[in-house]
Amino acid sequence: MIIVTGSEGEIGRALARRAVEEGLTVAAWDLADRVAAAEEADPAGGTVHRRAVDVTDEASIAAGLEAARSRGPLRYLVNNAAPPAAYARGFAAGVDGVLGSVEKVTRQFCAAVGEDGERWRDDAAIVNVSSVAGTAVALGADWYAAGKAGVVGYTRYLVGSGRAALRVNCVAPGLIATSRSIALQTSDLGRRVVERTPMGRAGHADEVAEVALFLASPLASYVNGAVVVVDGGLLCVP
Ligand SMILES: NC(=O)c1ccc[n+]([C@@H]2O[C@H](COP(=O)([O-])OP(=O)(O)OC[C@H]3O[C@@H](n4cnc5c(N)ncnc54)[C@H](O)[C@@H]3O)[C@@H](O)[C@H]2O)c1
Repeated sequence: MIIVTGSEGEIGRALARRAVEEGLTVAAWDLADRVAAAEEADPAGGTVHRRAVDVTDEASIAAGLEAARSRGPLRYLVNNAAPPAAYARGFAAGVDGVLGSVEKVTRQFCAAVGEDGERWRDDAAIVNVSSVAGTAVALGADWYAAGKAGVVGYTRYLVGSGRAALRVNCVAPGLIATSRSIALQTSDLGRRVVERTPMGRAGHADEVAEVALFLASPLASYVNGAVVVVDGGLLCVP
């Protein structure tokens, strides 16, 4: 069972699709209106179980985890959801949306995974979706950059403190062509980012999903606390 938060955004959909191709059962969590729209367009079936789960709400997360566990043992979590700009009514609320939600879901997931098995889980992992905006460059809003930087710090804390008895890693995408980044893609800044990127283009959602699923998988069995940048080489350019 893999939980994908923010599952109805482009990167979330790519994650869910690829996870199914890898034979995993997917608990696909997003806000109620996104889940309803997705169900209408493409009724969930088989191994994708969509559910309205608000990752900022402890009770909603608990109910989502209970439902996921009833379908199979919890193994993987991809913290992919991030609130839209409209959510961030001020810096603190924005940071709480980006970072606080990752902490809430992760804490509850780790507790649930711990109850499912013995102490260290070699077969379980978390991947947190950060951003180059939180690790290296100024892209997007202040709360977004601070929250995404916090996601990296929180990941390393979990690993180094031993608070998580499973592997936890981050993927840090550069500019990815999704509806979330459309304003950035079409801005002067976005065009400059693409020009600076050695590969000369924005990334695709699938290209982030592949790396996130690799980090979750046994192929990355000794990768723990890493931040893998998926940016077409942007950060190498002086
Ligand atoms: N697109 C990019 O260029 C880019 C770059 C770097 C990092 N990222 C990160 O990748 C992740 C996915 O991005 P995307 O481009 O697919 O974005 P997106 O906006 O298309 O998808 C995000 C999804 O999260 C959901 N969501 C928002 N608040 C939620 C909540 N409280 N509870 C549950 N779900 C919630 C949204 O409804 C949406 O479906 C995000 O964490 C984003 O910050 C994206």
